[in-house]
Amino acid sequence: MEKKLYYKINTYGCQMNVHESEKIAGMLEDMGYTSCDDEKDADIIVFNTCAIRDGAETKVLGNIGATKKLKKLKPDLIIAVCGCMTQQKARADLIKEKYPQVSIVFGTHNLSEFQNYLLRYKKDKKKIFELWDKTEQINEHVPLYRTSGYNAWVNIMYGCNNFCTYCIVPYVRGREISRNFDDIICEVKELVSEGYATITLLGQNVNSYGNDIDDKNITFANLLKELDKIEGDYVLKFMTSHPKDLSCEVIDVIANSKHISHTIHLPVQSGNNRILKLMNRRYTIEHYKSLIDAIKQKISDAKITTDIIVGFPTETEEEFMDTYNLVKDVGYSGVFAFMYSPRAGTPASKMEGQIDDKTKHDRVNRLLKLSRQIIQNQSKTYVGNRYKALCTEKKGTNTICTLDCGKSVIVENSDIKPGKFYNILVNKLEKNMLYGTVCKD
Ligand code: SAH
Ligand code: SF4
Ligand code: F3S
Repeated sequence: MEKKLYYKINTYGCQMNVHESEKIAGMLEDMGYTSCDDEKDADIIVFNTCAIRDGAETKVLGNIGATKKLKKLKPDLIIAVCGCMTQQKARADLIKEKYPQVSIVFGTHNLSEFQNYLLRYKKDKKKIFELWDKTEQINEHVPLYRTSGYNAWVNIMYGCNNFCTYCIVPYVRGREISRNFDDIICEVKELVSEGYATITLLGQNVNSYGNDIDDKNITFANLLKELDKIEGDYVLKFMTSHPKDLSCEVIDVIANSKHISHTIHLPVQSGNNRILKLMNRRYTIEHYKSLIDAIKQKISDAKITTDIIVGFPTETEEEFMDTYNLVKDVGYSGVFAFMYSPRAGTPASKMEGQIDDKTKHDRVNRLLKLSRQIIQNQSKTYVGNRYKALCTEKKGTNTICTLDCGKSVIVENSDIKPGKFYNILVNKLEKNMLYGTVCKD
């Protein structure tokens, strides 16, 4: 009998990477490998890396470094590194020079070639370092092994054209390429029929879906409209929206839809116009606020979440306070706040007036404290209301249900089943946790 082969994938970064790891897993499963939890049992370890902030790169380099010992104990172990970090030539070179235990390195544009690289390496044992500088064509035929439970990720587009001055993504992911409209519809139909409860559409800027396709009917609004027609019990989510491109039409489609989530992630990055301009975000805070007003007016139970960068070069205390006050005014249901991290090759990394770490820490902590307070206050408003919620987990005699906005509600002593939607009446808030009961009708 042939020896069973095991793989372990370590994923860093955003949902795009999580989904791409499902493609790597699909290719490995296709070759007869089985997933394992412990690196010690693995015959191949894949690091799918992120480059968004310095911390993300330092962490992954540390973890790749730690595989040196394993490789010594198990010389046949294959270590592969891919993703946004290796798409930068300087990083790929660093791995080549300083991490001799790594055998295969590739980038974001040639992910679908991974199976070929692995077969080639296994045959001739020659190290592979291969980076492409762009995606020629989307490969629709990569096997997929979904690992995200009741949620299925669906790419609608790749890359980004926006070049926010702080961001590495356009350099490591290339220009926007939209997937074929009908391919997306087909994939979502199949996922709904397989019973996935949530379907999350992925793109760096989903609102520009279709801009690269020569047909004016291929737009994000029309894609959402068409997807919403698919029959079934599921919720459709998407990320990420860019405020410069989110149209009133899309807000209307969400408001009138049956399946689209009312939780909208709308990254603001800063509450100050001078900083937004330096960031090349191409909207004003007045425009952003008008979008928030339109969302709240058209979708009465809308929840809004955001991303914020503090300590962008030259940001003053007053300018930071504009962001702080914006967070207070909007009443976000989730704030992902980051300290600005200079990325090599981006315009902001060369700007004068870089802010010291202490100030960045202080600002991020103040913002996160405020956001926690807001979310805590919001929790009370759930009590006494009914919500459609997805049952996600059994914990002893308790069942955990997740609301559209991501909040958990504990249902005690119930036989409801994970993976299904239920109507839940939230009846108390205790120690910051919501409790509810299932409504029978
Ligand atoms: N395409 C998405 C998100 C991209 S990255 C969008 O445009 O919203 C996710 C978040 O990381 C960004 O929204 C931003 O807040 C943060 N980010 C990006 N580059 C960063 C940097 N250099 N330093 C700190 N945070 C950064
Ligand atoms: Fe980065 Fe801006 Fe593109 Fe988002 S829209 S990926 S923040 S460049
Ligand atoms: Fe995502 Fe990190 Fe790349 S946030 S797109 S994995 S740089």
